[in-house]
Amino acid sequence: MKRVRRAEGPGYPVTFGGVRPAAATATVDRDRDDTTERVRMTAAATFTSIFREEHREVRDLLFDLIDAFRARDLPRARSLLVQIANLTGPHFRYEEESLYPDLVDVFGAEYVEKLLADHDGAVRTARRLVELAGKDTLQDAEVDEAVAGARSILPHVSDCDGLSIMVERFPPERIAHILQTRTDALAADVDLLTWARTIRQRAV
Ligand SMILES: [Fe+2]
Repeated sequence: MKRVRRAEGPGYPVTFGGVRPAAATATVDRDRDDTTERVRMTAAATFTSIFREEHREVRDLLFDLIDAFRARDLPRARSLLVQIANLTGPHFRYEEESLYPDLVDVFGAEYVEKLLADHDGAVRTARRLVELAGKDTLQDAEVDEAVAGARSILPHVSDCDGLSIMVERFPPERIAHILQTRTDALAADVDLLTWARTIRQRAV
């Protein structure tokens, strides 16, 4: 059965001050039958909500890290960096092992290479932040460097979250594969810097 949006067509009754149906929040491909389309939308919504939640966690930890460096609270900065590395290790890993390869069909290889290069930069920055947080005290210039470094990762968080708008178009099997890769990466539980040094193919 084809889905027809109620708000379309000349027969739709216009109401003034009455209750209108809520605007559709997801695009439905009307060339596909309802069941297939619902399965796809459910898979997409599951991925999007998991992906968003992971980015929220990293975002909040980065803001806390910026505060910790500004306050020169280095034990707190060290503890936050451990938490960030524990979250971003599996996250970067499943992005690179399944999401990014799948995005080559969408964006082309050149843009996916840029995404990988952004990860390279984030790994280098994380390494430097660990180095700075490991000191006994920081000079003013080092605090500025640490704050700028942590901030430089923030655009990756927001840009990366936007990728889910493309994942919505993937068939459910492909989304399920990405989520399975995520489950495997979480089970392996390798932090960002260890993964970058021992498992990741690209040397940084
Ligand atoms: Fe991400």
